[in-house]
Amino acid sequence: MSDPFYLTTAIHYPNGKPHIGHAYETIAADVLARFHRQMGREVRFQTGTDEHGLKMAQKARELGQTPRELADEMSGYFRSLFDKLDISYDRFIRTTEPDHHRASQAIWQAMEANGDLYLDRYEGWYSVRDEAYYDESELTEGEGGVKLSPQGTPVEWTVEESWFFKLSEYGDKLLALYAEQPDFIRPESRRNEIMRFVEGGLRDLSISRTSFDWGVKVPGSDEHVMYVWVDALTNYLTGVGYPDDCEDFSKFWPADLHLIGKDITRFHTVYWPAFLLSAGIELPKQVFAHGFLLNRGVKESKSLGNVTDPGELADAFGVDTLRYFLLREFSFGQDGGWSREAIVNRNNSELANSFGNLAQRTLSQVFKNCEGVLPPVNGLSEADEALLAHVTRVVGEEMPAHYTDLAFSQALEAWMGAVFACNAYIDAAAPWALKKTDFARMETVLAVLYQCIAQLAVAVVPVMPGAMGRLLDAMGIDESLRTFTAIGSDWYAPLAGSEFRLGKPEGQFPRLDIPQAEDAEA
Ligand code: MF3
Repeated sequence: MSDPFYLTTAIHYPNGKPHIGHAYETIAADVLARFHRQMGREVRFQTGTDEHGLKMAQKARELGQTPRELADEMSGYFRSLFDKLDISYDRFIRTTEPDHHRASQAIWQAMEANGDLYLDRYEGWYSVRDEAYYDESELTEGEGGVKLSPQGTPVEWTVEESWFFKLSEYGDKLLALYAEQPDFIRPESRRNEIMRFVEGGLRDLSISRTSFDWGVKVPGSDEHVMYVWVDALTNYLTGVGYPDDCEDFSKFWPADLHLIGKDITRFHTVYWPAFLLSAGIELPKQVFAHGFLLNRGVKESKSLGNVTDPGELADAFGVDTLRYFLLREFSFGQDGGWSREAIVNRNNSELANSFGNLAQRTLSQVFKNCEGVLPPVNGLSEADEALLAHVTRVVGEEMPAHYTDLAFSQALEAWMGAVFACNAYIDAAAPWALKKTDFARMETVLAVLYQCIAQLAVAVVPVMPGAMGRLLDAMGIDESLRTFTAIGSDWYAPLAGSEFRLGKPEGQFPRLDIPQAEDAEA
């Protein structure tokens, strides 16, 4: 295997349990990881937890725990959520791991060797919640005159000795990067925002702290721990073996994609490339910032008491339905609203009624009328050819192009269009009525549908790996055929009349409110 593809999610602060935004980002990344594997690429997919910093130290103190105890406990919740959601990560990194400390110290030394670090005194605003420094000009006033960051979080005046990074010297290089690599920041709206920020001039960045010690030690400067974002961003390098000159590093670096939430774009598209330029390390190819999930239009927060446990949603609606919903409902890159009713509606109309019903009707007829033997194609009509061509185009061309572009909702919309075409075809061809009158024609119709359904299932394995995997297993579709590269080749023919016998089909997508009635036509 060749053509490596390295993608990462942000790593999350384990100062509390995961919320739906964490699930959303990681599911989207998992869909991409699975898609690229199905394209035959060698994928490395990393996620994990960001365990240092003042926010973790303060939260632990509040709970009477050590930061490490807090991190151990909460990191476990993230990991088990991701396992439950079928996230196929290759590494779940924790920034407290020894190889990560080593990588962080190595990049620090590389920046220092380049003459970009100096010792001074920081005096300015800091938001513990964002773990971010802000300029006075960026702040707004909240109730009672309290100063708030652009994210609406409280800031505190901070004075301490600190190492600085000469970020001010990187403005022109960054602007050149954005100009030369227009896809470095996506979507466009984020790119414009960041360009404006950099054009406004960059100040040097404080990159170490002395008022607490929960972090990676600054090499040769024992009183200092690194600013948490310096070590956090470095996780992307740690995961591929930096600083060793190893096979993983040469294979997977530079990363193809950092997938993040829009609130942390500045760290990933200003600070991170500047650190890498300074250290003489190649830059990632793309940073994509997705939008926020809004619970009936509002952002979830502890103070509003509307925080949803994503694991509970997965239990209530099924992992695959949840994954499908989150990518189908709104465009990736924009904010999107969700509600329990909307999940049930999508499930029922698209998964249960449209696709599930199509599969159930077809498979039941193959099971009953053909005794489970996959029927042969006895000559194709124009309608058969048209349907096969539609499905092959959607599955073999349109969907891969959309997935590649992170246009998940468009991929699923094209998929639904092909499912509708299959449903129109089965209604018009009415194979159930042909059993007595024209058995050979019935066989052809079922064979055409069988192939279409299998291909449509393959196309959404990245989104619904559980249900589609079970369906394809039941349909006798070999693992080697479950790729985008196999689409279009005639892989149905050898299955017809083979040893394989289709068992009694079981629906993979039950309706979520009322149980689905037996299909009278089947
Ligand atoms: N923990 C940070 C946050 O949740 C994200 C860090 S992503 C990193 O905002 F890769 F840069 F570490």
